[in-house]
Amino acid sequence: MHFSLPLQFFRSLTGALSALLFLAGCSEPATEPNATAATDSDTAPVAFDTSLNMRDFMNLILDPAADVLWDSAGWVDSRETGYEELYPTTDEQWDYVRRHAALIIEIGNMLALPGRAVDNDAWLTYANGLSQAGALAMEAAAVQNEEDFFQAGAQLYSVCTACHQSYNPEITSKFATN
Ligand code: HEC
Repeated sequence: MHFSLPLQFFRSLTGALSALLFLAGCSEPATEPNATAATDSDTAPVAFDTSLNMRDFMNLILDPAADVLWDSAGWVDSRETGYEELYPTTDEQWDYVRRHAALIIEIGNMLALPGRAVDNDAWLTYANGLSQAGALAMEAAAVQNEEDFFQAGAQLYSVCTACHQSYNPEITSKFATN
């Protein structure tokens, strides 16, 4: 049931798109090379919607995905509950963390998008670092290797911290006390 709305939306969207393409096909001579538009940065259509601000991006997209990985790695030792392993124990749980590791890979790409990337230098290195840590976590989850999964989570954390230190040092202290 809860897929019906997005599906319908998607259908009407693809309907509208094919209507547009049809119109474009009618008004343009078939020999006109459309590809030139993509190389002309002044007139190129907006390719990505990067209007989501960085704060929302972090809080709504990246942080929840990373939390799934961190909540599934290592252990807690508390006076109330004693020693408790956090690692997944079933195939379903490993699949769940593997899906979120895949998300981290793609979130790295989202941060690297033109219009969102703050520069073409260190920012991209950190964005790629997220994807690399996500890939390690994904591999470890696929073979259910706890130690490698933990290492991937640690690597992920160090990428977060390094980028915050470079681009928004106040976050580092805020983040550490969470
Ligand atoms: C490529 C750089 C970069 C990486 C990598 C990065 N962040 Fe951020 N993060 C930022 C920037 C920039 C801000 C400040 C956003 C603002 O307030 O404008 C921020 C802010 C935040 C905030 C605070 C948002 C708020 O409400 O003020 C959280 C939480 C956060 N990041 C979580 C994470 C986590 C978790 C990771 C790693 C899994 C991560 N970030 C990786 C750049 C990055």
